[in-house]
Amino acid sequence: SSDTAYKYIAVSEPRPGVGQVTLNRPKSLNALSTPLITELNAALRTLDASPSIGAIVLTGSPKAFAAGADIKEMAPLTFSEAYTTSFIESWSDLTTAVKKPLLAAVSGYALGGGCELALMCDLIYTTTDAQFGQPEIKLGTIPGAGGSQRLTRAVGKARAMELILTGNFFSGEEAARWGVAARCYATHEELMEETLKTAEKIAGYSKVAVMAAKEVVNKSQDLALRDGVEFERRVFHSLFGSNDQKVGMKAFAEKQKPEWTHS
Ligand code: CAA
Repeated sequence: SSDTAYKYIAVSEPRPGVGQVTLNRPKSLNALSTPLITELNAALRTLDASPSIGAIVLTGSPKAFAAGADIKEMAPLTFSEAYTTSFIESWSDLTTAVKKPLLAAVSGYALGGGCELALMCDLIYTTTDAQFGQPEIKLGTIPGAGGSQRLTRAVGKARAMELILTGNFFSGEEAARWGVAARCYATHEELMEETLKTAEKIAGYSKVAVMAAKEVVNKSQDLALRDGVEFERRVFHSLFGSNDQKVGMKAFAEKQKPEWTHS
């Protein structure tokens, strides 16, 4: 596998059709340095392009999903360096370049850019005692990888404003209750088991339909309702041009298991 090529992440295929990227900078609680993000983007592109992969899981360690952007790297940056090098902009590759569903399995700290990285994923599962937060205010700055926008859409303005102005953490249990995460589990082991199970289930469906489903749900975050519904209908209509729509509906009628062609 391509594992050996990476220094700050590990890539594996723990279940059929499931690619896993594990952030692996334990000494700094998976602080998200530019070299780490470069590796992450490369790994995600590779998994996205791999015909055998149907869903991707992004995780960290039991102690930290990621404790934020690398503060030591950021500390000396000037405005013009940040601006001219488009600092943090490449993080968005996650949301623009990856068509397969990206599931975040979050244990431990998911702070600042770590929280934002999780929010860029399509689905978050977490542990009850995980610690999410946007503590940038304590560093004299603000969220810079979409936190003020995605967290606000997820939890509403009142909670987001309080979290971002105070830097207070919120638990995985709260994340699940507030709709940031879809589910929370008691332990890291249970979290990984359930995340991989869900990823494997998704990977068992038609890739064409799965990618389209991910795309239309994510559009709901960007478009007004009428535009979103029209977009969905166009994509829905377009799937009548796929082979797997015929395969899936014929198999239902014949009480057979569909054999997806991913076309
Ligand atoms: N960047 C760089 N290094 C980090 C880091 C970060 N975001 N978070 C932790 N580390 C490093 C620590 O400096 C420490 O390194 P040393 O051993 O060399 O001193 C190591 O990881 C272990 O951390 P702690 O000793 O602090 O561990 P702890 O258990 O006492 O505390 C913590 C854990 C509460 C998560 C604490 O590390 C912390 O507050 N980290 C910073 C969290 C933060 O502010 N994140 C937001 C960053 S800004 C951002 O992300 C901008 C953006 O929007 C893109």
